[in-house]
Order: sequence, then C-alpha cells, then structure tokens
Amino acid sequence: MTETLDALKERTLGAIAGAADLAALDQVRVAALGRKGAITEMMKGLGTLALEARREQGQRLNALKDAIAEAIAARQAALEAASIDARLSSERLDVTLPARPEREGRVHPVSQVTDELIAVFAEMGFAIAEGPDIEDDFHNFEALNIPPEHPARQEHDTFYFEPRADGSRLVLRTHTSPVQIRHMLSHRPPLRVIAPGRTYRCDSDMTHTPMFHQVEGLVIGEDIHMGHLKGCLRDFCEAFFEVADLPMRFRPSYFPFTSPSAEVDIGCSRSGGQLKIGAGDDWLEILGCGMVHPKVLRNGGIDPERWQGFAFGMGIDRIAMLKYGIPDLRSFFDADLRWIDHYGFGALDVPTLFGGLAR
Ligand code: PHE
Repeated sequence: MTETLDALKERTLGAIAGAADLAALDQVRVAALGRKGAITEMMKGLGTLALEARREQGQRLNALKDAIAEAIAARQAALEAASIDARLSSERLDVTLPARPEREGRVHPVSQVTDELIAVFAEMGFAIAEGPDIEDDFHNFEALNIPPEHPARQEHDTFYFEPRADGSRLVLRTHTSPVQIRHMLSHRPPLRVIAPGRTYRCDSDMTHTPMFHQVEGLVIGEDIHMGHLKGCLRDFCEAFFEVADLPMRFRPSYFPFTSPSAEVDIGCSRSGGQLKIGAGDDWLEILGCGMVHPKVLRNGGIDPERWQGFAFGMGIDRIAMLKYGIPDLRSFFDADLRWIDHYGFGALDVPTLFGGLAR
C-alpha cells in the first residue's frame, strides 16, 4: 500500500524543518519534487485513474506540491539568513576599540597611488586644485561644451539629484573635468594643476564601480601644444610605473571639451589572472586627453586667441590595478580587512621621487 498524501505531507514537511543546511534541504526537494520524486511519481500515476478521481487527485497533488515548495523556500531563506548571521558573528569587529600599536593600519592602494601621482606631478611643477563631488549642470556639462541634448550625456550614466525649486538638478560629478572650469574661473593663466578626487557613474562590472577616482590635469600657457601633452604624459607614466620604455599608445578620440582628443592605453598582459604592465599583447585604457577646446577656455573666462593648453583625465583606480597587479576593481571597495592587509601599504612609507614611490 502506498503512503497516503497526508502522511507524505507530514513526512516531507518534517524533513524540511529538520534540514540542517542547504545541501540537506536540496535532498528533501529532490526526493519530493525531483524528476523521480514521490510527488512527481504520483502525478505520473494520474493517467490510470477515472476522469472524476483524476481531477480530484490532481488538485490535491497540486496543492501538496505548492505547500512543499513554499515550505522549502521559507526554510531556504531561514538557512541563508542563519549562515549570514554566523559569518557576521565570526568576523566580528569592534570599530570603537582604540588603535593597537602592535597592529599597524594599512594605507589603501587608492590613497597610496594618489600620493604617488601627486609626488610625480608636483615634481613637474603642478599645483593641486579641488572641486565638490556634488556639481551643477553648468560645471559638469554645459561649460565643458556638453549642451543638454548632447549624446555624451548618455554615455555618462549620470546620478541625478531630485529637481530643485527652479527645476534644475544637481549631479554627482561624472568626471573631474568640472574642476577645470572652476579653476579657470578663479585663477589667471598661466595654469598648471592636477585635481584628484572621487567621481560617479551608474556602472558596475570587473573594471567599473559606481564610485571611482580620477585625476584631472590642466595646463594653460601662451605656447602650449600637443607635444607638451605627449611629453608630460610619457614622463608621468615612466616615473609612476617605474618602467623605462613603457608600451603606450595615443589613439585619436573625441571629447566635447578637447580638440583634438586622444585616449591613452598602456601595454599589459592578463595571463593567469594576473594583470602585469609592460610585456604582453593586451592594452588597458587609462586616460583621455586633448587640447582644451576654445569654447571651454572662453567659458572659463580665458581668451583663446591668446591662451591655449591641454587637459587630461586619468582613472586612478585603473592605474592602481595596473601598477600593483590587482585584477578586480570591485575588491577596492569591499572594505575587507584581509584584502587591505594583502594589497595595502605601510602608513609611514610616504611616496617621494627621491625616496622611491612605493616600497
Ligand atoms: N573627462 C574625461 C572622462 O572622464 C576625460 C578627459 C579629461 C578627456 C580631460 C580629455 C580631457 O572620460
């Protein structure tokens, strides 16, 4: 005599409640609902019943199947929550504890690399400029020759704030280029600044995170040309990566705020999951650059008949990945102590060109 539906239900629900982990729960599911499971077998047997009995039994089987599936889903959610709780308590960290001198903190690669690139550009006579993370449309787009209907706006995957009373919307800056405008409007040329900082785009994969870091460069003078741009970036890359004859390529490109424009890639290899600069047949894009567009100079209060210059925007996280062989950008922002222990830097190793950028 086969088991009654009620007995099957009771037995299965009991097993679900008793499943100690996700693997055990899955076994219960397979035994009841799998291809050869008890309920599946009973469903197959329906065909031998008379019409009326078949309908009645079919409804009862469906109800049972739903009840079991629901119980499994609930148990699964509970088991998953329990495993997160277990992990949270085993990795517990009291952030209010005072610092322990025997356990020195580590400097995050983004902070380290920012200090390193500041050291290199400072040596070339660059000052540091800053601007706000929350920008208005004028500085982030309009003044950079990106009018409202410009397709470049779509490419930026902008995070917008709620509209203000006048209908305008602030944004999380999508690049550090607005600092160019702020700096031009508040200083007289000649200019030579870099502006490192956080930037934001609604984008996430192995090489993109919604918050990332850029450093902007701006050089304005009476006789600045593209040769200066190339020389400056080559000198920077060789000093920063500490590799002579670094493979670099300048690809013609387009940005509304520069003309002509280029993108720069650095040679690398990705074999064995390790990212390495120099040797290899792969390229990683690290920056965009070009000669500052006359309209942008004018929007910055600078006369393009007299002054010209170049600008660049470089991904700090990108060059940190390249220099220190970190394969996944998302790991930068996981706040995982084991990661920072591995990839972090000693707090007292301040990067300088004479002392070495990183030890
Ligand atoms: N702002 C550009 C970007 O984020 C980079 C760039 C800066 C290009 C300055 C040219 C000049 O992609």
